[in-house]
Amino acid sequence: MYAIGEPVLELETPALLLDLDNFQWNIDKMFKFAKMAGINVRPHAKTFKAAAICSKLLEAGAVGLMTQKLSEAEALLNSGILYGDKNILISQELADFKKIEKLVGMNVAMGEGKVLASIENIEEAELLSKVALKWGIRQHIIIEMSHGRCGTVPRKPTVDLAKKVVSLKGLKFRGIYGYENPVDKEVALERDKVTVETANMIREAGIEVEIVSAGSTGTYEVTGTYPGITEIEPGSFVFGVGSEGTGYGFKTVNNVYFKSSLSVLTQVIGGNFSDRVVTDAGLKEMSEGFGTPLVRVDKKILECEEVRLSEEHGIIRFKEGSEARKSLKWGQKIEFIPSHCCTCVNLHDNIFVVKEGRLAAVWPTTARGKYQ
Ligand SMILES: Cc1ncc(COP(=O)(O)O)c(C=O)c1O
Repeated sequence: MYAIGEPVLELETPALLLDLDNFQWNIDKMFKFAKMAGINVRPHAKTFKAAAICSKLLEAGAVGLMTQKLSEAEALLNSGILYGDKNILISQELADFKKIEKLVGMNVAMGEGKVLASIENIEEAELLSKVALKWGIRQHIIIEMSHGRCGTVPRKPTVDLAKKVVSLKGLKFRGIYGYENPVDKEVALERDKVTVETANMIREAGIEVEIVSAGSTGTYEVTGTYPGITEIEPGSFVFGVGSEGTGYGFKTVNNVYFKSSLSVLTQVIGGNFSDRVVTDAGLKEMSEGFGTPLVRVDKKILECEEVRLSEEHGIIRFKEGSEARKSLKWGQKIEFIPSHCCTCVNLHDNIFVVKEGRLAAVWPTTARGKYQ
């Protein structure tokens, strides 16, 4: 149980916390950059999953959203967040006929072009076109051009697929995306070059390419200022990435800095030993995607030897009798900063929104567990 307005330390644990000021600072930083660089932003909602966060980002100026899964797109679409010409682009390909039916149905119901599909081959294009024609609409298409995962081989094979897409009456070709991963600047520049060259080759074949999407939190500045890229698709920036942040581990790439806004409130439930304490949050509340979590007490990172997560316990080890160990008491509430924000959010029904130490709101993680 919780009461809006109560001090955060009165929340029952474990609880996923969002520091509203740091979160807003991150959004403001990203959209200030986007305005200066003249680049569109399509935040990747697989990171934060909450419709309330989607609304904040759309209001801040996002052109639309990205989701990884069809069912994430469905949950967010049905939560009523889209308005005007905002849309959702699903970044993962669909190879299942029933899913393709579902996707097209979503566009039939909400309006053509509301949910864009990513494709990587002709079979997928033909299936999408067939289903769209059955309903008398056009399915809007993005080609994923690969930098190491799904997608087409860059340049000619991608151009060939674009030609095929425009020849199919049930499809509308909107562009390409070439997610380059959170890589170092030099690699990002090489990958962006390939993406833009491929987009230009499609244009040379007489096909309009409206969207050229790429970019992650770690590459938002490099890719967001690369000529020819029209939009960036970062996700974890809302929760922070960088030396003090979360996102993917606790390192930063390309000196990117956002403030840490996501943590798991946990309570010390085992305090009988001078070399460790045990808390009530473990792997069921946080993944260890990019290493064990950091421990934060009173806004400061606590020095400890090791954090080990088992299913429902977090074991924090210290040098025998250390001052840090002595500072922790049974019943005390402290925070873990998770190493991988996306998988952590996916483990929680709600995000507890904290402003200056008090609970301001509770945001459901709308697309939680939407894996299909
Ligand atoms: C296709 C795609 N775009 C964008 C992102 C966002 O990356 P980040 O959370 O680092 O901003 C991801 C993350 O995995 C992705 O898969």
